[in-house]
Amino acid sequence: MRDLSRGWRADGETVGLVPTMGALHAGHLSLVARACEENARVVVSIFVNPLQFGPREDLARYPRPIESDVSLLREAGVDAIYMPSVETMYPRGASTRVVVSGVAEPLEGAARPGHFDGVTTVVAKLFGATEPDCAYFGQKDAQQVAVVKRMARDLDLGVEIRVCPTVREPDGLALSSRNAYLDPAQRKAATILSRALSAAAEAYQGGEHDPARLKATLHEVLATEPTAEVEYAELVDPETFRPAGTLAVLAVRIGGGRQAPEARTRLIDNLDLREPYPG
Ligand code: PAJ
Repeated sequence: MRDLSRGWRADGETVGLVPTMGALHAGHLSLVARACEENARVVVSIFVNPLQFGPREDLARYPRPIESDVSLLREAGVDAIYMPSVETMYPRGASTRVVVSGVAEPLEGAARPGHFDGVTTVVAKLFGATEPDCAYFGQKDAQQVAVVKRMARDLDLGVEIRVCPTVREPDGLALSSRNAYLDPAQRKAATILSRALSAAAEAYQGGEHDPARLKATLHEVLATEPTAEVEYAELVDPETFRPAGTLAVLAVRIGGGRQAPEARTRLIDNLDLREPYPG
């Protein structure tokens, strides 16, 4: 992979990387399209990274539709698909981790111990394998964006991080590979995330700038969906993820009360309340 990329760059061609875990949807494909517009060569990586899943998370059942992913990427016209095996990425004896402090600690970092260490370790390795000029990430995972930007800056990786807007269903639900876990009733309930974000954005744009009141609005709307269990709903600074700022971030579990917590589908979403909102 690195020889291929170095060859392109030696010919003066820019290389864009889109890291993914596969199960590609229109959100991923928007990153790929932007990368294709902005670079002579585009690499998409597909790797379900065991390091970023907790012991009770969905690693084993994470969808892996490899053939349809490959044909989607062929259609999109990418130059390479980098699909390493787990053994290639983490051979016996591998013991190095990339750990970002500060921005990686609250919210997703607190709810999913080790998650961001897994993300930054694999992203650093993917940058090493593909040596891209720039790499594309989705605003859907806002804290991941902030963590990866911090890592790239702190480690002088020489990769420019470019961020693409969240792609949503017509009813506001942010596209996610994990939406596949939702049954029809849960799929309907899942719109509570974007509805809560929209209500807060509407309040903000109507002049309500008090973070405590905006947070209360998020919780009030989320409470109207009885099958939604709120893990967090906060207003944070979009770069540091410290309170309080204009970025509303949510993590909500959807699913019936009789299901074990880990059987419920965990969804995240976010919105900068200064921006146009869904719905
Ligand atoms: P994955 O969940 O497959 O997402 C790959 C990229 O697609 C991420 O940058 C994510 O933010 C973006 N994305 C997902 N849903 C989106 C949506 N609805 N709109 C716009 N972009 C969206 O995120 C990961 O994989 C992994 O953590 C990874 C970075 C690949 C490291 O393993």
